Amino acid sequence: MSKKVIMIDGSKRKKNTYGILLQAEQILKARNIETEIINLFDPELKDCAGCERCVNETRCAMSDDMSELMQKIKDSDGAVLSSPVYMCGVTSRFKTFADRTNAWVHKPEVAGKPMLFVATTAATGLKETAKFFKTLASAYGARRGGFISRSGKNIGEPVKEDELSRFISLLERDKKDYSPAPDEIVMFAVGKTLARKSDGDDNRFWKENDLFDKNYYYACKMNPLKKLLSKFMCGLLAKVIK
Ligand SMILES: Cc1cc2nc3c(=O)[nH]c(=O)nc-3n(C[C@H](O)[C@H](O)[C@H](O)COP(=O)(O)O)c2cc1C
Repeated sequence: MSKKVIMIDGSKRKKNTYGILLQAEQILKARNIETEIINLFDPELKDCAGCERCVNETRCAMSDDMSELMQKIKDSDGAVLSSPVYMCGVTSRFKTFADRTNAWVHKPEVAGKPMLFVATTAATGLKETAKFFKTLASAYGARRGGFISRSGKNIGEPVKEDELSRFISLLERDKKDYSPAPDEIVMFAVGKTLARKSDGDDNRFWKENDLFDKNYYYACKMNPLKKLLSKFMCGLLAKVIK
């Protein structure tokens, strides 16, 4: 069965970032991968109210198109998340989208999903934006599929297959072959500790999915050192996090 990838565009306009997405889409389509580009300005997306119902209760307090969008990403085989650089970070619309996915940090429903990140800029802010995307992926427990970036000086440079090869290979491979990096393991330990200390719906999720007994979100390549890191961080964070 062919794979499906959801491509999220965080720009108000269809120009630089969209142009990169279109080229990436062609590369995916040539591999028989189905795609859908969603511009974040099309669905109705309200700002996060900060109530934490997404963590402590079963659903977000807001009624808009976000749950449908999250369902689409959950149902997909992988996602491409993109934004132009605004003030050295993602656009406010992309940040709203990210804030509204807070449930996935506490109830890791997209753990193991391959994610590729895209950013375009005039000149600055790529490093900061790449760091944000990297942290976001680790917080989801997603498999990091790479980062495609362009600035004013190379915006015309065509997207090469190479730039998607890691993402495509993750789409094709089972998550049991993934070997999480130390910072991904630390994020897992943070999520596990928070859920352990909670009496909300996040705790139910971790219990029901037997995650409290695991060293990572799912069975994957964890050498003895990585298992030790996971155990050590959980022990340490249990003392540090209230
Ligand atoms: C509000 C705003 C903030 C921006 N901030 C930055 C910035 O911090 N650094 C930079 O180099 N370019 C900045 N830019 C330029 C955009 O990142 C760049 O033109 C980008 O490729 C636009 O992508 P788009 O065509 O997909 O909207 C900014 C543009 C706007 C409109």
